[in-house]
Amino acid sequence: MKQLELLYEGKAKQVYATDDSERIIIRFKDTATAYNNLKKAVIANKGVLNNDISAMLYRHLEAAGIRTHFIEKLNERDQLCRRVSIIPIEVIVRNIVAGTMAQRLGMEEGTRPSNTIIDLCYKRDDLGDPLINDDHAVALGLVTYDELKGIYATTRRINEVLTALFDRVDITLVDFKIEYGRTSDGEIILADELSPDTCRLWDKLTGEKLDKDRFRRDLGKIIEAYGEIDRRLKRLEE
Ligand code: TMP
Repeated sequence: MKQLELLYEGKAKQVYATDDSERIIIRFKDTATAYNNLKKAVIANKGVLNNDISAMLYRHLEAAGIRTHFIEKLNERDQLCRRVSIIPIEVIVRNIVAGTMAQRLGMEEGTRPSNTIIDLCYKRDDLGDPLINDDHAVALGLVTYDELKGIYATTRRINEVLTALFDRVDITLVDFKIEYGRTSDGEIILADELSPDTCRLWDKLTGEKLDKDRFRRDLGKIIEAYGEIDRRLKRLEE
C-alpha cells in the first residue's frame, strides 16, 4: 500500500490517498482544539493513543457485525480505512447528561435520563455546528428519511456494544459523537475516529473524567487519562 497525496487536513487528523482508489490512510495528530477552535494545544503522544484506542474500538464494533470504514492499524499513527464521502452530520449519543446538553437545557451534569438521547448537528464550522433535526437534515439534502432510519438503528446498536465494552473495564460511556460516510457503492458505514477526543468517559468508581474534558476544562493530566483508557481496553485484548 503506497501513501500518496494529502487529501484533507482536519483539526486532529490528516487523510492521505493511496494507490488503491478505495482506500485512504488516516494519520492521527497530536493537536487538540475545543470550543470551535478558540482553544488549541499540542498534546504530545495524543495521536498515538487515539490511533490505538480507535483501532481497538473499531475492531470490537466490526466483531459485533457493525459495518465500518476501518481496515487495519498500520503503525503508531496511521490506520488504513475504506474511502468514504463523509455525511456532514455529527451524530451525538447521550446516555448521561453532560456538556452542551446540560448547559442548553439547564440539567445537572451526571443526571441519567430515562431514555437515550440522539442529537444531530450540521457539520459546518462557519455556523458553529448547529443542532438540527431530521427534517432539517433531509431539507439540507444530506440524507433521506430512510437513510436516517438506518443511521439511528446502527447508532443505537453501536451505543449498546460500546457501553457494554466500557462497562467491562469500569468506565461509564457518558456520551459520544460519531460520523457516517457513503462508500463508492452507496453504502452508509461508520467512519471517523472513536477516542477520548470524541467520547466522554468517566471512571465508574471515582467518577474521574478520562476524556477531552480534561483539556476543555483545564483539568490537567490529559495524556495520563488517555493512557488509562488505552491500558484498560488493551486488557480486553489479552
Ligand atoms: P457536547 O457536550 O459538546 O455536545 O458533546 C457531546 C459529545 O460529543 C462529547 O463526547 C464530545 C463529542 N463531540 C465531538 O467529538 N465533536 C464535536 O464537534 C461535538 C459537538 C461533540
